[in-house]
Amino acid sequence: MRPRRNEPISNDKKTPGLPARTAALRLLDAVCRRGETLDQAMAGAIAKLHNPSDRSLAHNIAANVLRWMTALDAMIDSATRKRLPDDAKARMALRIALVQVLVLETPQHAAIATALPLVHGGPRRLVHGVFSTVMRGLETGKLALPEYPQLPGETWDRWVDRWGEETALAAGQAWSQPPPLDLSFRDDKQNSLDGETLADRHVRMTSGQSVTTLPDFDGGRFWVQDLAASLPARLLGDGTGKTILDLCAAPGGKTMQLAAAGWTVQAIDSSAKRLDRLRENLARTQLDAEIITADLMQWAPSEPADALLLDAPCSATGIFRRHPDVLHCIGAHQIADRAEVQKMLLNRVAPWVKPGGQLVYAVCSLEPEEGEDQMDEFLDSHPDYRLIPITQDQLPPAIAPTAEGYIRTLPTMLADKGHCDGFFIANLRRKDRT
Ligand SMILES: C[S@@+](CC[C@H](N)C(=O)[O-])C[C@H]1O[C@@H](n2cnc3c(N)ncnc32)[C@H](O)[C@@H]1O
Repeated sequence: MRPRRNEPISNDKKTPGLPARTAALRLLDAVCRRGETLDQAMAGAIAKLHNPSDRSLAHNIAANVLRWMTALDAMIDSATRKRLPDDAKARMALRIALVQVLVLETPQHAAIATALPLVHGGPRRLVHGVFSTVMRGLETGKLALPEYPQLPGETWDRWVDRWGEETALAAGQAWSQPPPLDLSFRDDKQNSLDGETLADRHVRMTSGQSVTTLPDFDGGRFWVQDLAASLPARLLGDGTGKTILDLCAAPGGKTMQLAAAGWTVQAIDSSAKRLDRLRENLARTQLDAEIITADLMQWAPSEPADALLLDAPCSATGIFRRHPDVLHCIGAHQIADRAEVQKMLLNRVAPWVKPGGQLVYAVCSLEPEEGEDQMDEFLDSHPDYRLIPITQDQLPPAIAPTAEGYIRTLPTMLADKGHCDGFFIANLRRKDRT
């Protein structure tokens, strides 16, 4: 539609490629200033971007700015006399322009032409000047992007303190690329996919592939699930003739594993929207589970189950590869908050397992407060539970149990094959009454 006379033509329409960059700026603003997750921010951005390639470019720019922010900021700071405030629009526009040149291989002229309108009415000359200075620095070799992203300072300090420098460096390496595509399978039948099998019923494809275009996706034999995320349900083994409470179940990767292993599953989650995805997943894979929308702090089962899987809400710092926003948003305060929620959930659900039954606790977090410390406290305060140490024969070869018998997947594991998510998993048994 032609603009009406006197109606200003928006910059978006005059500059090709600008809508995606404007959306990237909005996404980054939502994450860095309003504390939204990138996924939440994407939901808002999608309404404004009709072209799927613009959506994926906007997401790609924002995700890579979040990954490379420390290095981009160091370059920007090397080219300014007075440091730009962290939340200045000019800094964000520069990060967006630089990441395109340095990581996404966008030509310089396109990167700067689409960055300048982002600071409309603001310091365009400054942005242009800093961009040009950085480009010269790159040409002369004075500046260079490091091989891997550096973690944000607080995360770096925390992880060096908890896991050591080698692990923190491996996390930077893991952060540099979107993760490979891991698939879990419903059964042991042969498949025709061209990937690597790292465990039973698992195939790892290279990243960048879209799952919906893989052969037999509609046949429902597999679903996307990181190898580490598949470990909690593996510990529960064959469930034929037995009941399980799958608590905090949505969107349902573990529910499908449990149903495929023969368990009679009640899958409970408080998010109706996430449970809709679980329903779709079950329909596609032709697997069965009873779905209950409920807050676990209000709901209770009519009788205890043979087993229970609590995949508790957590800081999610273990899934930083696919959610690059998480390391910018999570600090000591949020970790303490989540640990408190996990403690309440564990205390509430502990009586829901039959005597002699199994409780598997999992979090996709790299914070001991949500894992090892949580279990120490739980076992101290619940003498009716004991730890069943996990052994190597229950795990893929690349993942070793800890000395205590927990699973603690770290960024150093599977580093030559694309890494895996950071999980903590504990296997407990409720003592028999006798
Ligand atoms: C780590 S995710 C679960 C992932 C899931 N188990 C899977 O494998 O796909 C945590 C889930 O906990 C749910 N949740 C958080 N607090 C809850 C509560 N009080 N009651 C029930 N579900 C809750 C969230 O909605 C979220 O879906």
